[in-house]
Amino acid sequence: MTKQFPKNFMWGGAIAANQAEGAYNLDGRGLTATDVTTGGSVKMPRYTTYIDKDGKPGKVASMGHNGVIPEGAKYAVLDTEYYPNHQAVDFYHRYKEDIKLFAEMGYSIFRLSISWARIFPNGDDIRPNQAGLDFYRSVFEECRKYNIEPLVSIWHFDTPLSLEERFGGWTNRKLVDFYVKYAETIFREYKGLVKYWLTFNEINNTIMFLDMMSDISGKEATDKEYQDAYQHLHHQFVASAKTVQIGHAIDPNYVIGNMICGITFYPGTCDPKDILANQHKWEQGIYYCGDVQAKGKYGTYAKRLWKEHNVELVMEDGDLEILEKGKVDMYTFSYYMSNNVTTHEVEDKVSGNFSAGAKNPYLTYSDWGWAHDPVGLQYYLEKIYDRYEIPLMVVENGLGAFDTVEEDGSIHDDYRIDYHRAHIKAMADAIDNGVNLIAYTTWGCIDIVSAGTGEMRKRYGFIYVDMDDAGNGTLNRTPKDSFYWYKEVLATNGLNVLEESDR
Ligand code: BG6
Repeated sequence: MTKQFPKNFMWGGAIAANQAEGAYNLDGRGLTATDVTTGGSVKMPRYTTYIDKDGKPGKVASMGHNGVIPEGAKYAVLDTEYYPNHQAVDFYHRYKEDIKLFAEMGYSIFRLSISWARIFPNGDDIRPNQAGLDFYRSVFEECRKYNIEPLVSIWHFDTPLSLEERFGGWTNRKLVDFYVKYAETIFREYKGLVKYWLTFNEINNTIMFLDMMSDISGKEATDKEYQDAYQHLHHQFVASAKTVQIGHAIDPNYVIGNMICGITFYPGTCDPKDILANQHKWEQGIYYCGDVQAKGKYGTYAKRLWKEHNVELVMEDGDLEILEKGKVDMYTFSYYMSNNVTTHEVEDKVSGNFSAGAKNPYLTYSDWGWAHDPVGLQYYLEKIYDRYEIPLMVVENGLGAFDTVEEDGSIHDDYRIDYHRAHIKAMADAIDNGVNLIAYTTWGCIDIVSAGTGEMRKRYGFIYVDMDDAGNGTLNRTPKDSFYWYKEVLATNGLNVLEESDR
């Protein structure tokens, strides 16, 4: 018999404020790190721009995080640079048109993030910015009009820049309270409009990124960088756990999840050393954050991880209790690819989405070097569900690819359809094996600015946006072939995909 998705399974798509909204300086919004980050490409990093203490403009490679600017320098928007996130795809003014298209595809859920700097421009303002609150209220009301459930990320890589400048970002404990106040404000404001919330997008990237540094820059991360990363994470864990408790107190119906950058790691060979290295990779990259947020405590291996880099984690009295009481209701994750872990020399290396490793000869790779591995998604789902036994959501999954617009304006993206078909089939297999998966939101349901490279031509959407890497174009929206295919998937609750695969 053909496998099935549960009757109430939620289907939809996902975007993030900084990659979609634009309007970076409108209606009282403050700056965030992406506003001082230039465009890049698969070969060229994005840069963080600044004015140094002598008034001279400069830039430093951002490599997945805002770059470390020289002492005395100030983050700055420079006239000589192009910043793709300033305009992004102008969701700020076009959300009604976009949500209508999502409704036409049959979405029951739409993941988006709130920009902290639209609500509290400096991150710690006494009162929230009314225009920011009003904007998201209209967006959520628009979703409700079509019976679309908003799934809201409270933080998607966009700490207000002012907090970075004045407090040095998340290594400073003060950010916990600022974040919690921001979360509490939006929990109260949108009660009745939003039910599903995520605390921190891809929280584990902070540590995964350090681990891959030597692969991209040839330089190992220092113990100080590990110290800062683990401290930064501890503060985010405490902020997340406090937020979960406050959210439940404000509305017991709130369902609050974590969000992990999900990568399936395989041992590169059957050398026992590779098997162990792979286990340690899962502990550091995937379980470290998941265990704290879903089990409410640091894993037994955490002490080993800290010791490896001489980390002395600073905790306050009561922190462990806060973590214990602030467990998430669901585990959500992004899944794009798998990676190989080996202790042996490798000639062919690949990197993508905060992870680098040996190329897997059994897989194919995208133009940006990301592995196509739907079996890895089934593996991840089964492994993670067995570990936590709470509902799961796949909240990002997609293929970043070049699209060609034909003369008649159509876009034939069968490669994207193939990618999603295979991953949907993998989800059905995992569900059939007992996994409680409740939702699927594809990444960049509409083309948006790439987080990693700042490009527009790395497109994930089922809806094409007419804009190039330099910001030229009409910004008009056009459904691609995948739009009509996904509409059929949703209309049949996934059955057409499963029947196609059975043939
Ligand atoms: C995830 C992020 O890392 O991957 C998204 O949560 C991001 O913000 C997505 O856009 C795809 O990465 P990229 O670099 O191709 O945009």
